[in-house]
Amino acid sequence: MNHFLDIHKTDPDALRSILSSAQSMKEARQGRSKGARDDEQPLAGRMVALIFEKPSTRTRVSFDVGVRQMGGETLVLTGSEMQLGHGETIADTARVLSRYVDMIMIRTFDEEALLELAEHATVPVINGLTNQSHPCQIMADILTFEEHRGPIAGRKVVWCGDGNNVFTSFAHAAGQLGFDLTFSGPPPLDPDPSALEFARAKGARVEIVRDPLAAVEGADLVVTDTWVSMHDSQTTRERRHNQLRPYQVNERLMVHAKDDALFMHCLPAHRGEEATNAVMDGPHSVIFDEAENRLHAQKAIMRWCLAV
Ligand code: CP
Ligand code: NVA
Repeated sequence: MNHFLDIHKTDPDALRSILSSAQSMKEARQGRSKGARDDEQPLAGRMVALIFEKPSTRTRVSFDVGVRQMGGETLVLTGSEMQLGHGETIADTARVLSRYVDMIMIRTFDEEALLELAEHATVPVINGLTNQSHPCQIMADILTFEEHRGPIAGRKVVWCGDGNNVFTSFAHAAGQLGFDLTFSGPPPLDPDPSALEFARAKGARVEIVRDPLAAVEGADLVVTDTWVSMHDSQTTRERRHNQLRPYQVNERLMVHAKDDALFMHCLPAHRGEEATNAVMDGPHSVIFDEAENRLHAQKAIMRWCLAV
């Protein structure tokens, strides 16, 4: 069994095998109803717990549907209705859940909770987003890029905005899969330096370019995300908006990227803030392909975790 905790903790060969299995499973479903079961039922007889300590639309629905397509069943739990939120240790929760379910996906706050759960669980644990990273999202994003444009290795990815959890997983992926990554945002919202160091140590070209127009020059992919993440205090909202406004992804910015550059956003978006409607609904945008690919990427991640 394998845990899927982070992209930098997962072997590049495993990442490649997950991406290729996701693509095959997606192709095998072409033209079928969303509720139809896959021909193969690798999760038959398996129960998967989906734990949410933060809100979710895509992660919740795509994991739930993915498990059912593969023949398994799910239990969707929120942190506040579990003893986890009322003082029971994460280690004890991990030991107890491992007696009932075959796999655990958790969306939580600090990654320490995820790591403690994984340390004490005897079933696979999947990271469905922490304050620090969002690896399932970036697996879907890589799948989306490669479907549209071929191998991502050697391509230029530019992130405009907050150096947040989603950016960190992009930095991990740059190191593992060999693409160039440019961060463009204000210094107070710089990314986790250890993620940049990881990517550089693996040989990826990683740059910080403060001028967003210069940053996106020659970009194959431009990415942004919300200016205020779920774990950020609402009291920082106005300051963040003021700091991040120059990094909005709009048509004026996109003309500096390659003509065939893609635009991605993990969603949910605040239209008119981090990205304009013209970009979100424009010719470069693949935001709904990304959302769909959460389903296919996570099905492949679950199969890899259970080795089925
Ligand atoms: N992108 C993403 O993880 O969306 P949700 O918060 O809706 O799950
Ligand atoms: N950075 C965002 C991603 C949401 C999917 C957050 O953590 O709220």
